Amino acid sequence: MSRSILAFLVSALLCAAVPAAAQAPMQWQTGRAAAAIEARVERLIRQMTLEEKVGQLHLYGRREGFDYGEIRAGRIGNVMNFVDPAEVAAVQKAARESRLKIPLLIGLDAVHGVSTYFPLPLGQAATFNPALVEEAALWTGREARALGINWTFAPMVDMGRDPRWGRLLEGAGEDVFLSRIMAAARTRGYQAGGAAATVKHFVGYGAGEAGRDYNTAWIPAEQLHDIHLPPFRASIDAGALSVMAAFNSVNGVPATAHREMLTDLLRRNWGFRGLVVSDFGSIPELMAHGIAADEAEAARKALAAGIDIDMMGFVYSKHLAAEVRAGRAPIAQVDEAVRRVLRVKFHARMDEIADIDPRTAESALQSPPALDAARRAARESIILLENDGILPLDPARVRSVAVIGALSRPDQERVWTDPAGVPRKPIEAMDAALARLLGQGVRVAFQPGVSTYCGKEFGDRAAAIEAAAAADVIVAKLGEDCEFMGEGASRTRLTLPGVQDQLLDELIGTGKPVVLVLATGRPLVLSHLKGRVAAIVQTFHAGSEGRAAIAEVLTGAFNPSGKTPMSFPRSVGQIPVYYDHLPTGRPETPGRFRYESIFMDESNLPLYPFGFGLSYTRFGFSDLRIETPVVAAGGALTASVTVANLGGREGQEVAQLYIRQPMARISRPVRQLKGFQKIALKPGESRKVTFTVPATELGYHDAQGRYVVEPGRFEIHVGNSSLAELKGEFQLARPQGGR
Ligand code: BGC
Repeated sequence: MSRSILAFLVSALLCAAVPAAAQAPMQWQTGRAAAAIEARVERLIRQMTLEEKVGQLHLYGRREGFDYGEIRAGRIGNVMNFVDPAEVAAVQKAARESRLKIPLLIGLDAVHGVSTYFPLPLGQAATFNPALVEEAALWTGREARALGINWTFAPMVDMGRDPRWGRLLEGAGEDVFLSRIMAAARTRGYQAGGAAATVKHFVGYGAGEAGRDYNTAWIPAEQLHDIHLPPFRASIDAGALSVMAAFNSVNGVPATAHREMLTDLLRRNWGFRGLVVSDFGSIPELMAHGIAADEAEAARKALAAGIDIDMMGFVYSKHLAAEVRAGRAPIAQVDEAVRRVLRVKFHARMDEIADIDPRTAESALQSPPALDAARRAARESIILLENDGILPLDPARVRSVAVIGALSRPDQERVWTDPAGVPRKPIEAMDAALARLLGQGVRVAFQPGVSTYCGKEFGDRAAAIEAAAAADVIVAKLGEDCEFMGEGASRTRLTLPGVQDQLLDELIGTGKPVVLVLATGRPLVLSHLKGRVAAIVQTFHAGSEGRAAIAEVLTGAFNPSGKTPMSFPRSVGQIPVYYDHLPTGRPETPGRFRYESIFMDESNLPLYPFGFGLSYTRFGFSDLRIETPVVAAGGALTASVTVANLGGREGQEVAQLYIRQPMARISRPVRQLKGFQKIALKPGESRKVTFTVPATELGYHDAQGRYVVEPGRFEIHVGNSSLAELKGEFQLARPQGGR
């Protein structure tokens, strides 16, 4: 039986075993169903007391001594961080015992898994495989829903252009086109799995000055509309039911009180009909931002701006009813917020879906097809940055391997993982996976070297060096762990944390070839390692099946195909170093070195460009054809290229198409990704890849936020990274009757 038929049968069997609630796709209803929901929402609003209304706007987290009576009384309409099925069933039961029986939203940051973990979203983006990313989100949604969790605080779609910012690991990196595609894929996946998606953080959270978390963002209108907003739009167009506001201020106004963004743009211009939730405690933070004198004013300002649910700020629950009674907050604003919350609950059919059975809920976790998806996602997320030929490891030549680094063995990766009590199988250690794949003829030793996963201090340093010196090849698994990555973990030095650089130096000092496997949440500065290590394999914490997948890559059982979702800087001083920057009046010219837009002590180029990643085979790009040399105003560009596998192994390559409008009314980026396709080719095989780019994709936003598509000449570059070399061009025609 073929592997795919087997996987299908297993998944069919599993679906039969999964409780009904786990198979409840969520989406906006249309037509009569939508009209019936609107009528029902209005009826309910007429029946609700002010306290019950405020209850629907209150999101409360699990804690010791949680009072279920508050749910029964209608004072808590939404909860978060409940994961134990018995407790989840109990909170939902309490809601059913309330006067109006309105179901709870039960939220969790199910970001890259619940029990089966997938690579961090940045790693998922590195797959350049939206179908696989959608599948990862689908399993995450299903596992959440199997536990009764019906709302995920994901996807984060903030742009990651500054690697100092610890949170960019939750998004898709620096490119807006890739981010849009991944945002939509993740949204569809979570919701198809049964968890309402929350696209976050609206907006500009990734643009905090100096990459410092929660910091102020100043974003000109052109960049806001061309770069930061499109991934949100993509998620909303894919059906996202909720949006989370950001902590930061944008152009001087805290996002939590940004009426222009939350109401004028999101609701009025984009037509978003779902709910907006604040970030954790961000409403009372309006006082610290200096725009609210007290909690009550913070509550009024957030509500008026368009925040429907107060996440853990406790200011709606404490103050809104009194503010309405005193005439300081309009009841119409409360009703509108309640309307949006109820609308989401009913469109998602949260009341129609049977509650979970706590006794069987966990049987749906870590199913074989979910783990299989996690393995496939992990494989494709791995990026080969350097290889002097040592990889794949050849058991005929390598008799012993020393795996060094505590990170090759934690029981659990720790960014948005580990909701207490969710069962999962132990993750295979990397040395065990390597030993399994290399076979009995190869000895595999392991030494942690450092005492913590983030390498803050040495463990048994001598034992690590001894094991390394005794082996033919050293595999060093180093990187960042939760203390150094994720929320609140901005960094100014992008080296390996703690003593790991020192450890690496000592490993290199043994004279044995070092394969550096990085598990980080961002691109680190690796310039000092180029030429000193034999290979660099970049992973963004690859999840439950990650270490097995890395071992497959190291041994050649899987040919790496991941591509950098961000440019890797040569030094922190280069940041920001994204590829789609504007041209300058004084670009770098070879041979000159001053009075140009350059650094005196560093190249302008990143160490590894966006979209880059090596393979164990070689791909050639040829025969770029512009099938539509003149593109009509409402038409589309069609271009094709031939990709050939010129090496000796089967592999996957990501063909990438970039465009540039060299002359326009305003300066346009030197390149912009507008299409990519991942294809698998056998040795000697070649294939024609065709790209279609609608003319509507060729424009930009002006300073007033208006979208403009300018006719004229466009250049195209096609290849396998943002340095793509094949060139062509086309004309975009003026609209008929246009000037
Ligand atoms: C984060 C959000 C997250 C929330 C709930 C906040 O600190 O910024 O992204 O959803 O906590 O865990």
